[in-house]
Amino acid sequence: MQSLAEQTRNDFPILTKSSSSDQPLIYLDHAATSQKPQEVIDSLVNYYATYNANVHRGAHQLSVCATEAFEEARKITANFVGATSTKEIVFTRNASEAINLVARSWGDNLVKEGDEILLTIMEHHSNIVPWQLLAKRTGCVLRFAGLTSTGELDLKDVQNKLNKRTKLVGLVHISNTLGCCNPIEEVVDLAHKQSSLVLLDACQSLAHRYINVNSLGIDFLVGSSHKVCGPTGIGFLWGRESLLNEMPPFLAGGEMIQDVYLDHSNWADLPHKFEAGTPAIGESIAMGTALQYIKNLGLKNIHSWEKELTIHMFEGLKKIEGLQVLGPTPSDQLERGALATFNVEAIHANDIAALLDDVGICIRSGHHCCQPLHRHYGLSSTARASLSFISTKEELDRFLEELVSAISFLRRNS
Ligand code: ALA
Repeated sequence: MQSLAEQTRNDFPILTKSSSSDQPLIYLDHAATSQKPQEVIDSLVNYYATYNANVHRGAHQLSVCATEAFEEARKITANFVGATSTKEIVFTRNASEAINLVARSWGDNLVKEGDEILLTIMEHHSNIVPWQLLAKRTGCVLRFAGLTSTGELDLKDVQNKLNKRTKLVGLVHISNTLGCCNPIEEVVDLAHKQSSLVLLDACQSLAHRYINVNSLGIDFLVGSSHKVCGPTGIGFLWGRESLLNEMPPFLAGGEMIQDVYLDHSNWADLPHKFEAGTPAIGESIAMGTALQYIKNLGLKNIHSWEKELTIHMFEGLKKIEGLQVLGPTPSDQLERGALATFNVEAIHANDIAALLDDVGICIRSGHHCCQPLHRHYGLSSTARASLSFISTKEELDRFLEELVSAISFLRRNS
């Protein structure tokens, strides 16, 4: 039987490209951004080439066609996360904007001095900084749950830090650095017992795990198109309709209004109340195509192939002397995410990434937008290889082999 990678690799034009060293390109940076299948590229180009027009504004045929495709993308997105209604899907520029929307619109109105927001130390900067700004504006207090010795979320710490003052728990589903997959239902149970809401950052899980917002029991979810085989410039917020209804607009302008007078205005219905100005129309439509592409492959199939690849990669990494992986190994957490972040004693991650790049292998080095987490480990930078369903065991073997030679080279020359 063909692996999922064998079934899908031909859909991705970039994989036919050689690297600058003329070696086949091995892309292991899917957590930074995913590659795009031809049908997503076609969907974007097709909008601009054949029915480019503004949405919700014109009666002419092009505008009707664009509006229908745009709203169809919203339906696909709602269906992808199991939303009850398309009113719960707000298109934003990216997941960061979606978190800012909640921090501004929900936070500024419902969070008071002395209230608490509970985050975790593994959060991406985009799920820390908007809350720091909220704390400055309102006087609320930020608290941070820590990790277990295996680099997983410490649920006991979550429980200890939750109390009647906690208004929201914001956490990542799969950490972009530790790769751990967090126990969301358990966090939701603990949070809801204290009447706190839960916001889930699903950027690293949407393309890898089946998600249903209602089974998870969360209150907000943010997602980003470019991590799910879609274009950049578009993401979304899912929020419970009752919560979104209570929240005032975030940005103001055209499209989000019902009526405008010189001295006041009133707002359009959900979700348009939160979508000021002309949206990223083609990008939204292409995000819909990407989500449908992933759904057709089946998230169970994706997860099972990526799990096999992850175990294979960790088997190889554990043989490398002086290499420390951050976060749980597959023996600590079998359902962990398909990535490995590592530090090699006395070698800078950028040097490893540069040597791998010389032979056509793309990995990420740096702090992965998680400086507090790196500080917790006493590191400023790590290397990360992140996979997707198009990755193969052969690519991983080549990566492991080149990683060993890069490390020996750097040790010899240090
Ligand atoms: N958040 C992205 C990453 O993990 C950019 O690389």
